[in-house]
Formats: sequence, structure tokens, C-alpha cells
Amino acid sequence: MTSTTSLPLVHQADPPGAPWWRSAVIYQVYPRSFADGDGDGVGDLPGVTSRLEHLVELGVDAVWLSPFYLSPQADAGYDVADYRTVDPVFGTLDDADALLHQARSLGLRVIVDLVPNHTSDEHAWFQAALVAGPGSPERDLYVFRDGLGQDGELPPNDWKSVFGGGAWQRATEPDGTPGQWFLHLFDVKQPDLNWHHPRVRAEFESILRFWLDRGVAGFRIDVAHGLVKAPGLPAYGAEHEMLPGGHDDRPRAPYWDQDEVHDVYRSWRTIIDEYDGDRVLVAEAWVEPAERLARYVRKDELHQSFNFAYLVTPWDAGALRSVVTSSLQATDAVGAPTTWVLSNHDVVRHATRFGYPVGAVLPTGIGAADTQPDAVLGLRRARAATLLMLALPGSAYLYQGEELGLPEHTTMPDDVRQDPTWPRSGHQHRGRDGCRVPLPWQADAPSYGFGPGPLSWLPQPDSWREHALDVQRDVPGSTYEVYRAALTLRRAQSLGTGSLTWLPGWPDDVVALANGPVAVVANVGSSVLTLPADAVVLIASGELLETVGVVGVPPDVTVWARLPQA
Ligand code: BGC
Repeated sequence: MTSTTSLPLVHQADPPGAPWWRSAVIYQVYPRSFADGDGDGVGDLPGVTSRLEHLVELGVDAVWLSPFYLSPQADAGYDVADYRTVDPVFGTLDDADALLHQARSLGLRVIVDLVPNHTSDEHAWFQAALVAGPGSPERDLYVFRDGLGQDGELPPNDWKSVFGGGAWQRATEPDGTPGQWFLHLFDVKQPDLNWHHPRVRAEFESILRFWLDRGVAGFRIDVAHGLVKAPGLPAYGAEHEMLPGGHDDRPRAPYWDQDEVHDVYRSWRTIIDEYDGDRVLVAEAWVEPAERLARYVRKDELHQSFNFAYLVTPWDAGALRSVVTSSLQATDAVGAPTTWVLSNHDVVRHATRFGYPVGAVLPTGIGAADTQPDAVLGLRRARAATLLMLALPGSAYLYQGEELGLPEHTTMPDDVRQDPTWPRSGHQHRGRDGCRVPLPWQADAPSYGFGPGPLSWLPQPDSWREHALDVQRDVPGSTYEVYRAALTLRRAQSLGTGSLTWLPGWPDDVVALANGPVAVVANVGSSVLTLPADAVVLIASGELLETVGVVGVPPDVTVWARLPQA
């Protein structure tokens, strides 16, 4: 390894005293599937509270909770009927307060999900809009339009739903006749709000304050790039799913990433800045290229944005170097931290993605009849990818269960699937249930300790026994212990606020970087690498080949080591 003093810095370290979120590791809890307190088979807030100590032991800084608000659960809670009420399936507002209280006493911050692009069709506003009829102020809170064709029988434009099918639904008017159409970029039960309307803006500002007053550390903003639609709702002429899966040369959709959306975030920033405690706003924005995404995290807008370009990058050294460099450069240009993420509740878990050949195009959701992944290779690469990610400067997001090395459920019976993607796509795309299966906490308990009894809203595969937390805890080399050790070291070495320099002299199929005094070598190639004799290994994602005085890094293993010259 080479001394880094003369090498060009791709990214400079943060000055001392940087706010927590610039380097935080944030753990996504998907409440339906984390822990079930009452045994009904669906996870809940008391379940989450009872397991918060696990997150302290793991060593994360904060938790992001997916939605737990009142909802008919047509899209697992991303269809909100009341933003200030907890859905009975998850508990009560008192349970939310108890969770926040317990998290605070454990030193964990809690970010909650805000779903502003659409409400549930069961939201009081939408119900009133249906009743009030065409031309009413109630309808103006949503995107209602007359249809085309002789009798308005055709949708107002060609926009498509992210979940499949058209993005417009014809409403039945109060007199029982077929009437206007309303826009739903997602499920038909998720009508889009009209963000040009001041009442919509005022309502969400009030919702922000409601949860800030209860002590949340911030918000993850769902579909942050979608709120504002182009004036006149022009035809698009293409389809645009949420997960473009790489670089995309289609024109920008008239419903994504419109410039006026930034006004919304500037006003939210002034609100959140009124509160103490360095609270944060995080965008879920599937926007490319990186420079366009960075506009969401300019100084007077949001704090962070998920880096989906990183999530979709294959296990390929050149592609990894390139996405790391472009991500850091784009956010450095606006003074924001970069974020890193490999899994969440919308994508195939990375332990499974990496089990397919590089470049393979994966279906949206994997079924028993699809080509199955190489589970051993997938987990090996996933651990290496995670160790690389946790060495990068910036903030990192973990998705529940990845610390156990959980794979996707790739053989789930189709008749238990719940994701609306499956029916809406005409059974073309199986959807996201495979990454949402309840967690295994105890190998020998019913529902693997997810709840007190055997119930689990999605079936847990038999192979999850070996992933249960209790069979991994304190077992050297287990995925759980690798995550825990990496998080401890990341903190001790201040890697999150650190710098990045690419190290020269390594083969092209190796990702080699220095973050301050720590060298990180990810062997993405197919030959064993030899570390310099004086390198001091800090942690490795898999077993190293050690013979007297020589350390070999096998393929698909990442290692952190002390730079001898530093
Ligand atoms: C959420 C999805 C949800 C969609 C609609 C997404 O970005 O992460 O789970 O289905 O927004 O709210």
C-alpha cells in the first residue's frame, strides 16, 4: 500500500464538530416485520420498542421507521388515511410516544416516514372530494380531470402507474354516473395530492410540526421527487418505473423532479430549523444524474438524499469506483454529505442480488419458478459490499435483517403475496414481499421469535433458522458480528466524517481506497490478493488466507487495514 499524502483527495474530511447526520448510520425498521408484540402476526410499535436494545448493541446512530399511521394498508401503510393517528395494527399514539421515549433514553434518534405525494383514498379529504363533485374546492386538493373522448371515457393523459397499468382512475359521481378521473401514480387507492394548492402545503407543514413536537429527529420523505407535476399535465410518451436500474436516457417524466418541488423543501427546511437537536429531512428521490439529485440537498433544502445510484451498482470494481467518485463530487459541490445504501423495503435484498451473475437483469420480485440465486456467493459478496460501504465517508443506511445476512424470500407462494404490484402488473412483477418477511430473532422459537406465537404475516423460509440473531450473536465471523465490529471501528476511526483517496498500484478489479489512516481493499476480482507484509488487518468480511507473514485476500472479500506509512 502506498502513502496517501501525495495522492489527490476525492473527498476531504469534515471539520471537527460536524452534525451527527453527516456521518450517521441509520437503520430502517419496517414495523410490520421487525417484531410483533401482540402475536397477531404483524409487527407493531411495542414490538419495536422491546427490541431497540438490539440496535444499540449493533451500534447504529438512528432508526428510520417506515409508516405506522392509520391506513387501510393497501400499500403496506404508504397509503395514509390519517397522518396524526397510529394504525391499530401497529398500536396507539401512546405506543409511539413510548417508543420515542425509550429510544431517547438509549441514545437512538428516530426518523419517521412522511408520505406527501398521495394519501389513501380513505383519507377524509379524498372522501369529501368524491362527494363534493367536479369543480369543488375539495376536488382541487387532488388531481381530478375530465376524461378525453366523446363521453370522457378515456383517461386525461398517457401517464402510467409505477405499480403497473394506467395512472388514472375514473370516479363515480355522487349521482352514480361515471365521472371525472383522478391521478394515482401508485396504487388506485393512493390518489395524488395537488401540491400547487396552498392548503395541501399548509397541512403538511402542520403534520411536520405534529411529529417534531413529539420528538422525532426528522423525516424520510416518500417519493420526494414526485410531489409537483408539470403544469397542464402534458403527455409523457414513455413509462417510468421507480427503479430505473442504472443510467436512464429517457426524457424526464412530467411527474418526476420538477423544479417547483424545491420550493416545498425550502419551506420545510425553515420549519425544521426552528427546532433544536439537529433534526433532518431525507429525500427518497429516484433522480439521476447525481448533480440533479444534489439539488435536493442544497444548503437551504433537505439534509440528505438516498443514493440509489449506489444501490443499483453491480459488483464491478470500475462501476463502484465511478459511482463513489461521482456521488461524492456531486454532494461536495453543494456542501452536503453523501449517503450509501444497499437494501431497503422496495428492492431485492443485496445478499440475493449479489448471488446472480454481474449484469443479470433481475425481475421485480423473484418467484419459485425464476432462476434462483447462488446464496453462498450472494452472502459473501453482500458482506464484502457492506464492509466497503461502511468505510465510505458520509452517512449509511441499513435495512433491517441485513445484519443477519438475510436473503430475499425467493420461493414465496404467489397466493400469499400482498404487494399491489403483483395484481396491478397483471401478475408480471411479483413485487416486494420477498424483502419484507418478518425477522428471525430466535432459531428455536415459533415464528423465529418474531412474535410470541407462530403467526407471521408473510411466511418465513426454513433456511432462516441459520440466520436467527441468537445463533449469530457472539459467534466470531458471523454476519452479525462482522456488522457489529465494523460499526464499532467505523466510529472509532471516524470514517463517516473521513476523507477518500483512491489507492494506486492495485489491479483494476480491486477497489482500493484510503479513508484517513485506514486502507480499504475490496477484492472484486477472481484472484487472491496479497497485502503488504507490514499491513495490520483491522477487519475482514470473510476469511483471509494467512501463511507466515503473508496475508491473502480471497475474491469477494473486503478488508480494512492500517496503512503502515501513515
Ligand atoms: C415507498 C414504497 C411505496 C411508494 C408509494 C415508495 O417510494 O418506499 O414502498 O410503495 O413510495 O408510497
